[in-house]
Amino acid sequence: MTEDRAAALAAIAAEVRICKACRLYEGTTNAVPGAGDLNAEIMFIGEGPGFNEDKKGLPFVGRSGDYLEKLLKIINLDRKTVFITNVVKHRPPENRDPLPDEMAACKPYLDHQIEIINPLVIVTLGRFSMGRYFPGGKITQIHGQPKYADGRAYLPLFHPAAVLRNPTLEPQMEADFKRILEVIAEVKSQRTKNTKPDNKTEPPPSDPSTPPKQLSLF
Ligand code: URA
Repeated sequence: MTEDRAAALAAIAAEVRICKACRLYEGTTNAVPGAGDLNAEIMFIGEGPGFNEDKKGLPFVGRSGDYLEKLLKIINLDRKTVFITNVVKHRPPENRDPLPDEMAACKPYLDHQIEIINPLVIVTLGRFSMGRYFPGGKITQIHGQPKYADGRAYLPLFHPAAVLRNPTLEPQMEADFKRILEVIAEVKSQRTKNTKPDNKTEPPPSDPSTPPKQLSLF
């Protein structure tokens, strides 16, 4: 039920705001649990809050956020229709990389957010969120190439800040970003194919020892 899911998402945010599971809360102004639509088809996962995010308690509200919004506009989307969060929910000091134990401490929050929102596509922004789904993957080699698993897609993209630092990546980032819509269409089509209208379409195997036919791409 929508109310239950909204309440569950709010409960995660409340837990994050008082979280002391790792050292990252020290010296921060606000936790940044994540923000957006409970029913989002697209979930973006960045690295961790920066200076502006820490001040406002919201994800991607600085220069990287402006760029992310510009990219969303290219595919006719508004940030209100997606869900945006990070691998760690408190700002690492001086914007340093999050450490493995900090990401591990925050993992249950992110796992639970994903479970509640159940997006069609998870777009990873940068190497830390990419590492969750493409362990050992190199962003320069796999950016823009979706992986279909668990009934959804995972799409690794460059981090917006990396593109702002290196504008030669911009055309590639835009091209990768535009793939989001086709990836969603593919997931929807796979989900439709996997929904059997009635049990006449897939008779049970005649021999009970025969494993059922693999129906799914996922
Ligand atoms: N960079 C991130 O990875 N996340 C934010 O929320 C802002 C900048």
